[in-house]
Amino acid sequence: MTANTPTTGDSKRSVTGVTSVTGVTGVTGQRIFSGIQPSGRLHIGNYLGAISQFVPLQEEYECIFGIVDLHAMTQLYEKDEMSQRITNAAVNYLACGLDPNKATLMLQSGVAEHAELAWILSTVTPLPWIQRVPTFKEKARHQPDNVNMGLLNYPVLMAADILIYKSVAVPVGEDQRPHLELTREIARAFNARFGSFFPEPAEIIGSQARVIGLDGKNRMSKSLDNCIYLDDEPDVIREKIAKQGVTDPARVKRTDPGNPDICNIFTWHKLFSTKEEQAYCAKECRKAGFGCLDCKAILIKNILAVLEPIQERQKELMADLDGVKEIIRDGTDRARKIAQETMKEVREITGLTYLS
Ligand code: AMP
Ligand code: TRP
Repeated sequence: MTANTPTTGDSKRSVTGVTSVTGVTGVTGQRIFSGIQPSGRLHIGNYLGAISQFVPLQEEYECIFGIVDLHAMTQLYEKDEMSQRITNAAVNYLACGLDPNKATLMLQSGVAEHAELAWILSTVTPLPWIQRVPTFKEKARHQPDNVNMGLLNYPVLMAADILIYKSVAVPVGEDQRPHLELTREIARAFNARFGSFFPEPAEIIGSQARVIGLDGKNRMSKSLDNCIYLDDEPDVIREKIAKQGVTDPARVKRTDPGNPDICNIFTWHKLFSTKEEQAYCAKECRKAGFGCLDCKAILIKNILAVLEPIQERQKELMADLDGVKEIIRDGTDRARKIAQETMKEVREITGLTYLS
């Protein structure tokens, strides 16, 4: 957890290494929003950095989790793929433990008020604030042929997603910190211009906020081919870790001793293996008692054990896609009511009341 959390919850590591937020003194009625783009399959970085935090929060806060398809439109995509991606995101949210009886699962494009508020917020946001957002520069570099206005507006729409529900906190991975800082600045700018209205939301950043990918150096990311996906078959996971999982580069031969402190596979052990297994692997690695493949075999067993129940649940949900759609429809309807209420107030305080 960062200092910027709404309360001082302890972070507790379970056997699987998934951080759970305990002792968060959520007040009923206080809202939390977070979103995931349906821009591809979800991976264990999304799971550890974001979704695993959502699950304990839904016990104590009024949570709204969005599948943010309007954000995903800032990248090129095949029109026929979008529904499939939304299904994938919803299935993963639910398979990882999101409970539609406790939290609201909604589709961003189903609540038009998000885009309406984004426009209003854009009018209190100075252009230089947006131009300095690091994610804009990174995305512009990544897709030089498609530097669209949506990329520039991306953080303003994200601020609207959060503020339209008057959210007090937002669980996200480390990469989203600049967006949350900007959201608070936009809330302050709006409040300064029109009177105190939006709360300034805190970010909730867990201890697994930057999971490194198979390449051992970059953040795990759909765009980098360094992911273990939540729906990868066990054989695919075995092969990816065995062949692509980068270890201590100085350990070339089986007989070379290794250094677990600079080995990403060991970092993953800290997320998925027991303390005893971690101690055993570190000891054997340092004295070249076993090879990297032996070390990886223990990790693979533990990752598969964490993913097994998730994948079982994925299969059940995939067999009932009408049920999944119903959950999204219900959640979107619920979210729309809150968003419409907020927009009514926003229209009043900004003077957009001529026809009312
Ligand atoms: P995205 O897939 O970019 O829509 O991200 C969805 C959520 O997962 C956001 O809260 C991200 O911060 C989080 N996330 C994405 N990649 C990682 C990663 N490698 N490590 C930790 N969190 C991540
Ligand atoms: N920008 C986020 C990401 O790429 C997705 C997102 C959109 C989001 N709107 C949000 C996250 C609101 C938290 C709150 O991961």
